[in-house]
Amino acid sequence: MPYSQLLPWYDTHKRILPFRGTRDPYAVWVSEIMLQQTRTETAGGYFTRFLQRFPNVSALASANEQEVLKLWEGLGYYSRARNLHKAARLIVSEYGGCFPRSHDAIRALPGIGDYTAAAIASIAYQQPYPAIDGNLTRVLSRVHGIREDVDIPSVRRQIRALAEAHIDTVRPGDWNQALMDLGATICIPGTPDCARCPLQAQCDAQAIGDAELLPVRAAARPPVPVEVGVALVTCGDRILVQKRDAALLRGLWVFILNEGDSTSGGMRKKLRALGIPAHLAAEMGDARHVFTHRVWNMRIYHFIADTPLEKPACVWVNAQELSALPLPTAIKTAKAHALRLI
Ligand code: ADE
Ligand code: SF4
Repeated sequence: MPYSQLLPWYDTHKRILPFRGTRDPYAVWVSEIMLQQTRTETAGGYFTRFLQRFPNVSALASANEQEVLKLWEGLGYYSRARNLHKAARLIVSEYGGCFPRSHDAIRALPGIGDYTAAAIASIAYQQPYPAIDGNLTRVLSRVHGIREDVDIPSVRRQIRALAEAHIDTVRPGDWNQALMDLGATICIPGTPDCARCPLQAQCDAQAIGDAELLPVRAAARPPVPVEVGVALVTCGDRILVQKRDAALLRGLWVFILNEGDSTSGGMRKKLRALGIPAHLAAEMGDARHVFTHRVWNMRIYHFIADTPLEKPACVWVNAQELSALPLPTAIKTAKAHALRLI
């Protein structure tokens, strides 16, 4: 049996993580959402703070979205936080605040895909669903010697079938987490540490010697560069911020952005179009932020306005108010400049 050594290994080598001590489905859910695209070490602190402020579904459901986003600040992928909040409200309205038990009901919640539904069902309720993420895909492709592109649907189905056939039905949550830990610490991308691996005697890639070539994936498309002008428009000790409505970073607060053009001329035009009279005071330098599908190449400007004119969706805030708003990490450099200006 290829995985007979997995749970004994996990019992002695599992990582001590802040979210490991619980089978509360709400806590498992929050942790799994945070852990998507975020390193375990980073997620730990966020998890502890989040559960302190919102200890259960009803606490989260009755929060306002801005507060949820503020606690999420820095984690990125803010739609995850918005969906978490939306799903909490749904659990209150549809299930009386009690987290659903059935895999299909969990899977139907906003922001919960196959991976998260399986992680919750297996860790909180010991249901035998494999939580197939990048780690499991890598380990399984190596153990079973899958040498085709793992992004092809039929290959994904093959990996899913293998995981379903081998998952431990008594401790499915631990089986999933053992593979996540193995994938994070031993069967890592690139060159794995097969000498320390509990699966080495049964591993096809280790026998063939091509583990570092697996899993096979088509090269990802590089993110598209976008030039972005960032205007720090100040008036005395206040600065102009705007709540974003665009899909990317929706609900978060940003400075006046001119997406597609980072020149000072473009920025002037943008401010004129918004009806904000201001003159350019200084160029503050550049910043860059890489999203999944886009790169923002930002040029930051300081504009001074004579009067704090009220504009739709815009607010003039002082330093303290600025710090209390949820701002995306993408404009971290601009925010640091702003706090020196006001
Ligand atoms: N990555 C995502 N979820 C995890 C978990 N429960 N344990 C370890 N790593 C993870
Ligand atoms: Fe990964 Fe090596 Fe273990 Fe195979 S033996 S599962 S390649 S670490």
